[in-house]
Amino acid sequence: MTTSPSNTVLAFDVYGTLIDPFHMEEHLRPAFGERARDASELWRGKQLEYSFRRSLMKKYADFNQCTAQALRFVCAQLGVSFSEETLKELMDQYLRLPAYPDVPAALQSLAARGFKIVACSNGTESAVRSLLEHAGVLPRFSGIVSVDHIRTFKPDPAVYEYLAAETRAAKENVWLISSNPFDVIGAKAYGLRAAWVRRDPKRAFDPWEFEADLIVESLGELGDKLNIA
Ligand code: 2OP
Repeated sequence: MTTSPSNTVLAFDVYGTLIDPFHMEEHLRPAFGERARDASELWRGKQLEYSFRRSLMKKYADFNQCTAQALRFVCAQLGVSFSEETLKELMDQYLRLPAYPDVPAALQSLAARGFKIVACSNGTESAVRSLLEHAGVLPRFSGIVSVDHIRTFKPDPAVYEYLAAETRAAKENVWLISSNPFDVIGAKAYGLRAAWVRRDPKRAFDPWEFEADLIVESLGELGDKLNIA
């Protein structure tokens, strides 16, 4: 079968690709001051580390729990204490993180061309739905593929297998679009196509034996570079 937008699935990673987790810096500033950026980066790093470790240990707890426990770690590491109420407020803010500015127009244009658009995230379905709704882009998605249904995390190959099964598409017609190199490598290792969204031009890609099929600096470039008409 020839490849066309209607038989091509674009599966968008969420945190770091569509939604900006580092926006939390703003909410961390009152407590962390000049260290707010460092705190937001440590928070994101630990959140991912906890998800990887939980997959390896087969001790699944959902991504909200990884995020909350990572925040407690950041507080302990940087010597800041929060009330339970403030921790809860920060977790609520995490459900209202903004989309990157290029996201709405890019999704609109890809949807108009007939691509099948889904989200594929380590986040729970309800957290992802809330983020996409808050960003005003939920109607562009025909589905949300959350790891929570299979209780493991990317880059476990089971997640990419689940993505292909849920979208009922041939592997070579499923594109994972992600700013996270570990996710791009995970998708490629399983046999999907993958585009790396290099949001930070200073960011290097892991020098493994897997490469992205496509590299874009913003989602606006995706439509032309995919070369599928
Ligand atoms: C996501 O799954 C990995 O954070 C990234 O949305």
